[in-house]
Amino acid sequence: MSKRVCLITGATSGLGKSLAIKLSDHGYRLILVSKSRNKLKSLLKLISGNNHKIFKVDLSSLKEVKKFVKKISKIDILINNAGGFYYSNNLSKKTIFLNYYIPYFLMKKLVLNKGSKNKIIINISSNAALRSNINLKDINNLEKFNGWEIYKFSKLLLVSMTNYFSKINNKNKFISFNPGRMSTNFGSNNFFFLKKLSQIYLFIFGKNPNYAADEIIKIIKKPFKRSHLEINLSNFSKVFLTNFQKKLIKKTNKVLKLKIIV
Ligand SMILES: NC(=O)c1ccc[n+]([C@@H]2O[C@H](COP(=O)([O-])OP(=O)(O)OC[C@H]3O[C@@H](n4cnc5c(N)ncnc54)[C@H](OP(=O)(O)O)[C@@H]3O)[C@@H](O)[C@H]2O)c1
Repeated sequence: MSKRVCLITGATSGLGKSLAIKLSDHGYRLILVSKSRNKLKSLLKLISGNNHKIFKVDLSSLKEVKKFVKKISKIDILINNAGGFYYSNNLSKKTIFLNYYIPYFLMKKLVLNKGSKNKIIINISSNAALRSNINLKDINNLEKFNGWEIYKFSKLLLVSMTNYFSKINNKNKFISFNPGRMSTNFGSNNFFFLKKLSQIYLFIFGKNPNYAADEIIKIIKKPFKRSHLEINLSNFSKVFLTNFQKKLIKKTNKVLKLKIIV
């Protein structure tokens, strides 16, 4: 049985919950992060083993995440799964932090800066990335866009950033995984009507998140290099050009006040 330590964000629902249950069955030690302590406690009752840790963190808040990373020592696998959108323009910052800046920050703080090797970073992406309409030059002016537009943009940046690290760091594995439509609570960070609309749509058209969780576990056991989404995007997108990626990383480090990582 493996005793590797795996941190899963957004573990209390949908794909994250499926992953937590399945990875615990495979013997991984889990660090489970989400925004509700009660849901995390209920999750602990569903998973195998008793050596897991739970942390209540708002992953759209850099301040909370900074406090959280100080409590974590060693992890082998990071699954940046928490994701969603806050539709209101006033909350634009929360959407890009949840889906892009915080996954990057966790990767940098918990995986990359310790002479690390043989670590696996899985960033959960989305087909929505293919439909992003926002330009990189607007990254610091997102108030004019709604949360859905920012969600698509954030996922695009996540795929681009993941691809960049897979090019420059061959000691660790960097994978962006596109789960496809799943029947989950996706959209629940919004007002009642939008929340219900997302859930009904995904209930009809989405598949059970267990399928995506099984695929991710196969990847953890045998990581591959490029995701289908990356291949689809790279046919027409500049986000795979190293120059674009360097610009992105520079802007990201500036926002997060981090040193350049290689
Ligand atoms: N569902 C789809 O069709 C679909 C398609 C493509 C990609 N994805 C991606 O798949 C990933 C998993 O989504 P899902 O469909 O499983 O959605 P979900 O059922 O809504 O689960 C999202 C998880 O993230 C947590 N979370 C949300 N905002 C958070 C915050 N600010 N701080 C801390 N935790 C937060 C949620 O906590 P609570 O349980 O407390 O709400 C929940 O545990 C996301 O990255 C999403 O973008 C989903």
